[in-house]
Amino acid sequence: MKIAVLKESAAGERRVAATPETARKLVALGATVAVEAGAGAAADFADTEFAEAGATVGPRADVLAGASLVMAIQGPDPAGLPKGALVAASLNPYQARDRLQAYAAAGVDAFALEFVPRITRAQSMDILSSQANLAGYKAVIDAAHAYGRAFPMMMTAAGTVPAARVFVMGVGVAGLQAIATAKRLGAVVSATDVRLATKEQIISLGGKPIFIEDEETRAAETAGGYAKEMSDAYKAKQAALVSETIAKQDIVITTALIPGRPAPRLVTAEQVATMKAGSVIVDMSVVQGGNVEGSRADEAVVTPNGVTILGFSNYPSRMASTASSLFARNLLNFVQTFWDKETRALKLPEDDEIVKGALVVKGGAIIHPALQG
Ligand code: NAI
Repeated sequence: MKIAVLKESAAGERRVAATPETARKLVALGATVAVEAGAGAAADFADTEFAEAGATVGPRADVLAGASLVMAIQGPDPAGLPKGALVAASLNPYQARDRLQAYAAAGVDAFALEFVPRITRAQSMDILSSQANLAGYKAVIDAAHAYGRAFPMMMTAAGTVPAARVFVMGVGVAGLQAIATAKRLGAVVSATDVRLATKEQIISLGGKPIFIEDEETRAAETAGGYAKEMSDAYKAKQAALVSETIAKQDIVITTALIPGRPAPRLVTAEQVATMKAGSVIVDMSVVQGGNVEGSRADEAVVTPNGVTILGFSNYPSRMASTASSLFARNLLNFVQTFWDKETRALKLPEDDEIVKGALVVKGGAIIHPALQG
């Protein structure tokens, strides 16, 4: 079976879906691996390294010719994809429905890696976790870089420097890593979420939980572990709590998301106006509509009271090499899980929980229940 690894075409995308390490392992499985020339360059993986790993390296048309599996970070342009091939990538299915339709029309099947269910067996192929973890780390580093003061408390002969106060809003995978990273840098960290289960997790990382506890938060988590959209009454309580907390913070990192919906608005311009000059906010949800009023993708917005609001549209791409290594291993684990040793090809049983969860296009149609209508 031939596996194609494409050079990403989206603006600002520096990652690559295979590394020399994973290419070597795919070849060892019995696959033929073809990598588009220059695919790994922006993530510090040279064509020569792919070739040494046993892959062929060449132009896109050669790489795609006869490929049964096309690996990519973001959904590739349908043009030129071989009929009958399977695309495995981060497909952004809710927003990029047209592209899924184009795959269906081209007779290309599609596996959306972000739809892989978060079950134990699939943990090793969970791109949301592997990428969000790095993003949470990088957001704190970005905040520290933009902040004109120190993170750790320092006792010096010239006087004591106070520790920075960091507030993390949304404690999923990214938020947990943001808490851990800010703690490692010496900040005083607090955090909030709608899911009560995160309270213990915040404490275990040395953070202080700031929570509203009512009937609604006790039921705020879906069976899948995600947050629900909260009621207006809850939102009013949360706004009061944020107003009380935010003025005392130096750094705010927001990560809150609700699957398939716009990001919840957690911080208003009035609340930002109560923060001290020099404070930094990183809105990690800026692409999904933003948690913070006034955040703009890929811009550093400085408010009239001197608060810098950062928002990057593609966080994992800012750590392209590590993010590629982990994404590529997620894809390798996917292939290894569904590899048929006898035919030396991928076999996706229709009744498998992972396949049912993530196969979004098959046989010329969008088949996933969440994408109907
Ligand atoms: P996410 O990226 O969908 O959302 C980030 C965080 O924002 C979540 O913690 C969510 O509760 C929070 N949030 C949403 N609305 C909010 C609001 N209005 N105010 C404050 N916070 C708000 O979440 P992520 O990182 O994808 O994690 C989702 C779940 O998946 C978690 O329960 C996590 O533990 C679980 N998970 C399970 C894995 C597994 O393999 N079993 C692997 C990774 C995550």
